[in-house]
Amino acid sequence: MKLLFLGGGNMAYALIGGLLKTGLSAGDIHVVDPVAEVRLRLQAQFGVACFACAEETAETPDVVLLAVKPQQMQGALAPWRSRLGDSLVISIAAGIDLATLSRWLDGHQRLVRVMPNTPALVGAGISGCCATPAVDAAARALTDRLLQSVGATLWVADEKHIDAVTAISGSGPAYVFLFIEALQHAAQELGLTPEQGRQLALATVQGAGALAAASDESVSVLRERVTSKGGTTAAALEVMRAREVPQGIIAGCHAAAARSEELGRLLGAV
Ligand SMILES: NC(=O)c1ccc[n+]([C@@H]2O[C@H](COP(=O)([O-])OP(=O)(O)OC[C@H]3O[C@@H](n4cnc5c(N)ncnc54)[C@H](OP(=O)(O)O)[C@@H]3O)[C@@H](O)[C@H]2O)c1
Repeated sequence: MKLLFLGGGNMAYALIGGLLKTGLSAGDIHVVDPVAEVRLRLQAQFGVACFACAEETAETPDVVLLAVKPQQMQGALAPWRSRLGDSLVISIAAGIDLATLSRWLDGHQRLVRVMPNTPALVGAGISGCCATPAVDAAARALTDRLLQSVGATLWVADEKHIDAVTAISGSGPAYVFLFIEALQHAAQELGLTPEQGRQLALATVQGAGALAAASDESVSVLRERVTSKGGTTAAALEVMRAREVPQGIIAGCHAAAARSEELGRLLGAV
């Protein structure tokens, strides 16, 4: 299988590293990126062939992975309009819908839209995916195989739910970082060193996530189990609820989904 990346930045770097670990051969991966430093890094690190522009590449790839910034996408696709044949095109660009991608590719139909997240950079991402009807089960399985090299995948049937995926897992790492920051801040106020606060906060978030993932119980039950009546956890949760922390998080997710939809409309209007 010949796989071509358009854009060799952070996400492409993570994906290529993951794919090589899962057994894909470096000889089957090509990258187009105009930045010489980016090409040199990928060549030196992974041994993949890199090109400055589409015109330098000869073969039609089986899969094209679109990993340029959303505002660069239309220009990046222009040289490929009549060159993609039956290639499966997978876009990880935020906000650009399947109809817009198809329009920018002269009606190309074999398209998958993916919303990854930054933990993919350490192989612990989750990608929300949706596809056009022209993408069959084999092409979905191939998409899973490629993206699961950097984490999990989850398919949504209706493309509008990609805005929800963006709000939960796409932007989600930032909410978790905010929570870790707050824990670290509290740790210092309570007399611990910054390093002690960092260690405790990170291990707690990782451990609680691992426990929730390993447990058959819901997170609500797990929360209740550590909350004894009149105890320390109950004292904390009472204050957090009084300050409407859960409502703030839920309202924030709604704002992210609304902004995702709005940005999609703006990008698709070009
Ligand atoms: N990073 C994330 O957390 C994240 C999460 C979800 C989705 N995504 C999506 O993933 C995509 C890639 O993100 P990233 O963080 O990897 O971006 P990035 O590091 O900026 O990488 C994009 C690369 O593509 C290059 N490029 C620009 N025009 C090109 C063209 N015409 N042909 C080929 N390459 C071109 C850019 O060069 P220049 O530097 O010269 O522009 C840059 O090297 C984005 O669309 C983003 O929405 C990212």
